[in-house]
Amino acid sequence: EKGGYQHFMLKEINEQPKAVRDTLAGRLPDGSDVKLDDIKLSADDINKINKIFIVACGTAYHAGLVGKNLIERLAKIPVEADIASEFRYRDPLVDEHSLTIVISQSGETADTLAAMREAKKKGSRILAVTNVVGSSVAREADDVLYTWAGPEIAVASTKAYTTQLVSMYLLAIKLGLERGTITEDYAEMLKSELRQLSEKIQKILDNQDTVQKLADNNYTAKDVFFLGRGLDYSVSMEGSLKLKEISYIHSEAYAAGELKHGTLALIENGTLVIALVTQKHLYDKMLSNIKEVTTRGAHVIAVALESMREIEKAVDDVIYIPDCAEEVAPVLAVIPLQLLAYYMAVARGCDVDKPRNLAKSVTVE
Ligand code: F6R
Repeated sequence: EKGGYQHFMLKEINEQPKAVRDTLAGRLPDGSDVKLDDIKLSADDINKINKIFIVACGTAYHAGLVGKNLIERLAKIPVEADIASEFRYRDPLVDEHSLTIVISQSGETADTLAAMREAKKKGSRILAVTNVVGSSVAREADDVLYTWAGPEIAVASTKAYTTQLVSMYLLAIKLGLERGTITEDYAEMLKSELRQLSEKIQKILDNQDTVQKLADNNYTAKDVFFLGRGLDYSVSMEGSLKLKEISYIHSEAYAAGELKHGTLALIENGTLVIALVTQKHLYDKMLSNIKEVTTRGAHVIAVALESMREIEKAVDDVIYIPDCAEEVAPVLAVIPLQLLAYYMAVARGCDVDKPRNLAKSVTVE
């Protein structure tokens, strides 16, 4: 059942090239169009949207943060990404011109369902991104965009996250095209980047020995800081959650520019820092943040694009991911972070597939 893998989590990490390919299948025809058959939003509906809310929990929320960045960038619609259990109690300014996107692998998460019902009551149209056909979220939404990750058994979400990211790109391109806020050339460039993701993920997976070695060298860490800017910050949050949830190592994700506003003091000699460096326009800024922590003795592992070789001079170790447009980098950057969490947890003897105190589907609020 685990297909020769020691754990479901490792199997599911390795299934990501297929999960991403399946989620894109049939949705990227030649030309600049995006085909999302289950979404009935008309061009008119799309043009009337004046605000988007993305609500979800945990890993799905982290995918929502990437969605917010992309939808604002491509469709120029203001987007708020919210944790479902917070959204419902803050009387959000949702109305009939809002679109609420709910993201849920299981489609049964109680907090997400409650948030969705609240938004619906306020008149919002609901678009669900879910992995389970016929789930509560899918049944109650107006439109459904299925991720085709296949069943996810391990408690820690991996392939559901990458397919949720892919769904965010599809939606952002679709909205951008309908609203005329992106050019067809730009849409085609992004589509071509999306089509290459599956192979690039495979390339990273083929090199997982490198990540395993780094995990074996660092698994005794007491605290780990994940740093990134922009989209890299959203991915940092997911990397940090993955690590703490299965290895029980304390970790935090920090917007790299924020560390100096108070907690840089936590970086001591030997503190492990994972620095994400995939956003070319933020490269120089990231480099100065890396300097801030190496000066204080941090041990820095960077996750960077292949073409950024000069980063080697600034850090202790580098995990390279294939070059890509910076918009889609989260899909690649998260793979080494999943592997790092996995191998560190295994090295510590943790029950990776069933971390203590966690359930796969959280049906209480
Ligand atoms: C983390 C994880 C959880 C889920 C969250 C939402 O690895 O799996 O954070 O992402 O409980 O679950 P769904 O997506 O089923 O609503």
